[in-house]
Amino acid sequence: MNNGYIAVMDSGIGGLSTLNLLTKELPRERFLYFGDNFNAPYGEKSYTLLNILAVSNLRKIFDREVKAVLFACNTLSVNVLLNAKTLLPVPVFGVFPPVEKAVAERKKTMLFCTPKTAERYKNSEYLKVIPLKRLAHSIETNAAAPYNTDLKQHLFSSEEYRICTEEKFSPDAVILGCTHYNFIKNQFYDHFCPATIQSGDEIAVFALKNYLARSGNLANHNIFTVDFIGECAKKNEIIFNMVVKNR
Ligand code: DGL
Repeated sequence: MNNGYIAVMDSGIGGLSTLNLLTKELPRERFLYFGDNFNAPYGEKSYTLLNILAVSNLRKIFDREVKAVLFACNTLSVNVLLNAKTLLPVPVFGVFPPVEKAVAERKKTMLFCTPKTAERYKNSEYLKVIPLKRLAHSIETNAAAPYNTDLKQHLFSSEEYRICTEEKFSPDAVILGCTHYNFIKNQFYDHFCPATIQSGDEIAVFALKNYLARSGNLANHNIFTVDFIGECAKKNEIIFNMVVKNR
């Protein structure tokens, strides 16, 4: 048994959707949520800056007893997770866009993500990568009502999306490659029906849960608790209450 914190990190509110899943799957754990609102959005930052931010944020949490870290942020996972693994004394997990499975199943797949995540993936016969420049930022700044952010407006201002529609690429699978997009998942359903809508949250949560169970590191608190750090802990709390109410 290990009653240390599970640290969950994102640029802001996106990772709260992952945290919501974590609290369902691991209801006796103690979570530490770090939403780096002060430096959000991450999606257009350089690789070097992302590394600097990740390392400095990790330093801020390691004065507490942390037993595992989860990057609830695709941008962090695809860019800095390997580096973080070499630096930390505890396991680091990440939310990644589940692209390989969809493409291996020969599903016509659209990956929507931040520009920095998009750089890691290549277009192919089955995969179209569509960076959405300001979407995470709009959702973040609309924190009192993130569900109201208008997806269509962002789709139609994307050159990559326009090319896909001109080529009549109609997807079987749509991957939400940014945790912020979970807040407007219904709009993706409506717009791309009957395509399946997928994200990497569940895989990351199950990987973490498996690790804790197999290594004997599950906690034994009566209920889950969440502590917040970051510049805008208040904003995170408002959304978190909203997410929990929607369970
Ligand atoms: N939520 C993050 C992700 O999954 C980052 C969004 C941003 O800050 O640009 O990529």
